[in-house]
Amino acid sequence: MMTKFMNMRKTAKCLLMVMAVLLSGLSTTAWSKDFRLGLLTPPPHIWTKAAESFGAELNEKSGGAHTVQVFPSRQLGNEAQMLQQLQSGALDMAFMTVAEVSNRAPDFGAFYAPFLAQDIGHAARILRSDVARGMLDQLPQQVGVVGIDYGMAGLRQILSRGEVNGPGDLAGKKLRITPFDPILDFYNILGAAPTPMPLPAVYDALANGQVDAIDMDSELIWKLKYYEHAETIIHSNHMMFPMVGLVSAKVWAGLGEEDRAMITEIMRKYLGQVLDTYVENDPVWIEQVRETDKTFKQVGPEFFGDAPQQWDEIWSKRSSMLGAIRDVAASTAN
Ligand code: BEZ
Repeated sequence: MMTKFMNMRKTAKCLLMVMAVLLSGLSTTAWSKDFRLGLLTPPPHIWTKAAESFGAELNEKSGGAHTVQVFPSRQLGNEAQMLQQLQSGALDMAFMTVAEVSNRAPDFGAFYAPFLAQDIGHAARILRSDVARGMLDQLPQQVGVVGIDYGMAGLRQILSRGEVNGPGDLAGKKLRITPFDPILDFYNILGAAPTPMPLPAVYDALANGQVDAIDMDSELIWKLKYYEHAETIIHSNHMMFPMVGLVSAKVWAGLGEEDRAMITEIMRKYLGQVLDTYVENDPVWIEQVRETDKTFKQVGPEFFGDAPQQWDEIWSKRSSMLGAIRDVAASTAN
């Protein structure tokens, strides 16, 4: 009888130990996570640095429970592939061009209305508006991702290997663009030969003459020394170039409220810093480009003739948000 009782106690003790081990395992998987965040920008780029700072702060604020491994330079594939990975839950997070998102959610094409923003500060105000932020609400349903907030990469300029005195000089020219429709339409209207090409391929293509010109922001024209392979820089500020911080909707669904709030707060902070960094430094980069020995032309909408109006006609049918975003731009202009 005594032996039977001792055996029962032993079994109960073992069961308790097994349950304790199982429970500790469960709490680990429920409360800590190693997130993977992908980008196409290289390690020193402002977006990549912001992603790293976001990861470090999330790790600290979660008491070491969460980590974020950042994969820059297209290590996980191009943006279209990263977006697919976000949809399937194979990738947790990304800082991605809104350009790529607009390929799946055409409403976002409204941000590329030519000359929507007067200057870089105005671009940031448009992106911080309730209307712009409200557009992120459609992403879980439409694209399978949660949009946390916007960053950006300055305004777009044109850099050409040859002389450019008017838009006619761009006719038939192979002009590198980021692969997305609103910009493709803009250069098609101008009669150029837009050539979609992801960022990491641009330097060699420009240097070896595979393209005649590129559509690019001031920061990279200066820092990646694209200007060294150009004769003319057209400082036009013709389009905004927003970025968005994304989390896989599948991954989001598995997170608790506390984690969601923490990720939102910290990611928003660093995306906001990206906006501030461009507002502060964009004029400095363009000044540095102006001071090189290249031909520097400052142009406004008139340089592009009626291309902006033609673009509007196309995109007022494709993006239901174009009117609302134009209203935001009007109400936030200086
Ligand atoms: C581009 O495609 O030109 C680009 C992409 C990401 C950051 C900056 C520029």
